[in-house]
Amino acid sequence: MRVDVVSLFPEFVAQVAGHGVVGRAQERGLLSIHGWNPRDFATGNYRRVDERPFGGGPGMVMLIDPLRDCIQAAREADPAPATVIYLSPQGERLTQAKVRELAGRDRVILLCGRYEGVDERLVAAEVDEELSIGDYVLSGGELAAAVLIDAVARLQAGALNDSESAAQDSFEPADDAGSLLLDCPHFTRPVEHELGTVPAVLMSGNHADIARWRRQQALGRTWLRRPDLVDPSTLSKADRQLLDAFLAESASDPSST
Ligand code: ADE
Repeated sequence: MRVDVVSLFPEFVAQVAGHGVVGRAQERGLLSIHGWNPRDFATGNYRRVDERPFGGGPGMVMLIDPLRDCIQAAREADPAPATVIYLSPQGERLTQAKVRELAGRDRVILLCGRYEGVDERLVAAEVDEELSIGDYVLSGGELAAAVLIDAVARLQAGALNDSESAAQDSFEPADDAGSLLLDCPHFTRPVEHELGTVPAVLMSGNHADIARWRRQQALGRTWLRRPDLVDPSTLSKADRQLLDAFLAESASDPSST
């Protein structure tokens, strides 16, 4: 997959993308990330990339031409057609389902706005999709682009060392019914610690019991923390029983959740 990032701070995104899973995905040739700076396409002595907004008001608006030429250069750098995604708080909310869809594409161009925004005519002419990473305002699209790149990179086949771990993440459908659940809690050594003891079932060696316990924890956590993600009427009988038992236990021992 090829990702081109149009940003006044392309080195910021390159930095973030150089580490961990994203860095490894790049080293393994699964993903390539290319930065493009609209300032390199600005003209005039001052190489302006922004101007004051018509109608007044605070902040600056990014100019059409440097952005358009920059996007065009990014498009032409590879023959594969690209969709242009503008990161902005006005966009459609990025979800794991959307991340999965993006991860299957060959190519995207991410447009990071700065200041108060981008001239709307550029958005209308060049942008195919607008995505938001949440209902809060960042000072630019770079962090949002880094979030999107990270989420997409780890879904590239071969990016993760343990091929199982992406499928078990929070928000990945955990069963054929496609229910979206938060992840279960995880523990590692030591078994006994002043902060607590690891649940005995995880040391039992009984894989069916462990799987059941993890499913129960995932159901219970999701119910308590994100009730919007669980519709009890769609749960299987087995899941309903697991959840009921979880809730009964957490009512008698609130510290268990
Ligand atoms: N740019 C500024 N805020 C943003 C957000 N919440 N999501 C995506 N891009 C943004």
